[in-house]
Amino acid sequence: MAKPLTVLGLETSCDETAAAVVRGFPPGPGTILSNITYSQIAEHRPYGGVVPEIAARAHVELIDGLIERALDAAELDLGDMDAVAATAGPGLIGGVMVGLTSAKALALAAGKPLIAVNHLEAHALSARLCGHVEFPFLLLLISGGHCELVEAAGLGRYRRYGATIDDAVGECFDKVAKLLGLPYPGGPQIEKLARNGIAKRISLPRPMLGREGAEFSFSGLKTAVRQLVTKHQPLSEDVKADIAASVQAAIVEVVSDRVRHAMWRFREVYGGDREFPFVAAGGVAANRAIREQLAAVAKSELFSLHLPPLELCTDNAAMVAWAGLERLAAGLTDSLDAPPRDRWPLETMHA
Ligand code: KG4
Ligand code: ZN
Repeated sequence: MAKPLTVLGLETSCDETAAAVVRGFPPGPGTILSNITYSQIAEHRPYGGVVPEIAARAHVELIDGLIERALDAAELDLGDMDAVAATAGPGLIGGVMVGLTSAKALALAAGKPLIAVNHLEAHALSARLCGHVEFPFLLLLISGGHCELVEAAGLGRYRRYGATIDDAVGECFDKVAKLLGLPYPGGPQIEKLARNGIAKRISLPRPMLGREGAEFSFSGLKTAVRQLVTKHQPLSEDVKADIAASVQAAIVEVVSDRVRHAMWRFREVYGGDREFPFVAAGGVAANRAIREQLAAVAKSELFSLHLPPLELCTDNAAMVAWAGLERLAAGLTDSLDAPPRDRWPLETMHA
């Protein structure tokens, strides 16, 4: 049995400022000793989306206090850590710099290794932090910023099957919600409203449905809703609910179809009739209609569905600490001049 490792992780790539301490050893599961997240939703709500400058400034103001709280809650000191990990990208560059610079300062001060974590790899590995998930597995990452299907062959070994060619799925939920006059973030609002509506009353396009490959597209759906909203002015509550139900139904159908295509490709690579893990992560994976449909698709294609708990599905620092821990265990550390990156595709990682 390998000696467990303990890692402090920082996350600042979007609108969550977060710090966490995680202990364990690959393949997991690990133990979350603390996991503190400050969501800046209230700061960004007046603008209907994340404002990079506001986010960066809030990260600067919050990060030191959150690190202290995360260490206190874990009842540990910096000296007890085996490494300090931070998201180094992809994300809003101002925010990424705040977390990465803090991690560098701590690593230097305490003489600990630094791990520059790819945020997408952190989402991918979060399922190993909270359950028994062996490589290879298929990952669906759906949030406000990400929308992709990825084969995870091993640590640092990823192949993207498809991504969105325009908006991310969470972005689509948020933009549609805005058109319906609902507050940000729109996904949970649409889900709630959809319960009162009848999807069949409004017909909407299903972009990419049945298409070869695993790409997504959502801008056509958003445009269709914009036209509907213009046509039905002023919007009655009933029509609003029907639109919400119809948008959600369209998204559920498109996402399941893309997942099924990705599962076929995965099967072509790994073959056989054995069951493989299928991990869904990102804020949109909180949607109940999507979860139910993903479970059905996984069952019919012989994949086991793994949904990290909600607080680990959305942006958090525990997943960053865990990804850092997996890399540390593999002997992969970074130098103090590791750059912050706004773009950092998973395929360019290597263990
Ligand atoms: O992962 P996340 O917290 O942040 C990033 O975007 O990285 O995801 C936030 C996104 C938002 O677009 C939000 O509207 C969407 O996830 N979301 C949902 C639900 N809960 C959050 N979308 C649909 N249904 C939900 N229940
Ligand atoms: Zn994320």
